[in-house]
Amino acid sequence: MTYLAYMLALLCALLHIASAAPPPALRSTGRPLPIDGFVAQGYPDVMDGTNHLSFVEYNVTLSPGEDSIWCWAWSEVSDLSIGDVPTTACQADHTVKWSFMKAADAYNFTVSWQYTGHGHLIGSWMIPDSQVQWITDAGDVAVQHYVGPTSFSVDTDDVFGT
Ligand SMILES: *[C@@H]1O[C@H](CO)[C@@H](O)[C@H](O)[C@H]1NC(C)=O
Ligand SMILES: *[C@@H]1O[C@H](CO)[C@@H](O)[C@H](O)[C@H]1NC(C)=O
Repeated sequence: MTYLAYMLALLCALLHIASAAPPPALRSTGRPLPIDGFVAQGYPDVMDGTNHLSFVEYNVTLSPGEDSIWCWAWSEVSDLSIGDVPTTACQADHTVKWSFMKAADAYNFTVSWQYTGHGHLIGSWMIPDSQVQWITDAGDVAVQHYVGPTSFSVDTDDVFGT
């Protein structure tokens, strides 16, 4: 094989690899997603056996001027803390997925909205540990509550592609 033919074969092989791999996702600054009515708390009522339920809910406005949608999740915890919510779809609109997870010195609330087949907005709002407190209720029981702002805006990245 001549050197040229060898280079051509190599080029074809490389092009084939390049075309087989999906194009890299494009990431740019997205529109912030406004959150209202954010609540996260444990519940003193025992669910079954010894486990308790904790609750996270909020409303998110997907497009300016449109009605917000309500998203919520229960999780099972062994004490009266606020439990993690692994990635879950919003009941009102399954194109919205979110999670609420304990991270180092903070809680990580992440929300994403698949606004089209290949595009989604995604952003995280870090809740400092100081905004989650044990509060003693009327029944003299210490229950964990989110005490930060109930409205805030999550900055997002606009990710297009896979
Ligand atoms: C959240 O949405 C629910 C259901 O649409 C509505 O009843 C409630 O008033 C909203 N809360 C806030 C704080 O926007
Ligand atoms: C928050 O959680 C999201 C989703 O798991 C993750 O991509 C992101 O890196 C986390 N942010 C921090 C600061 O932990």
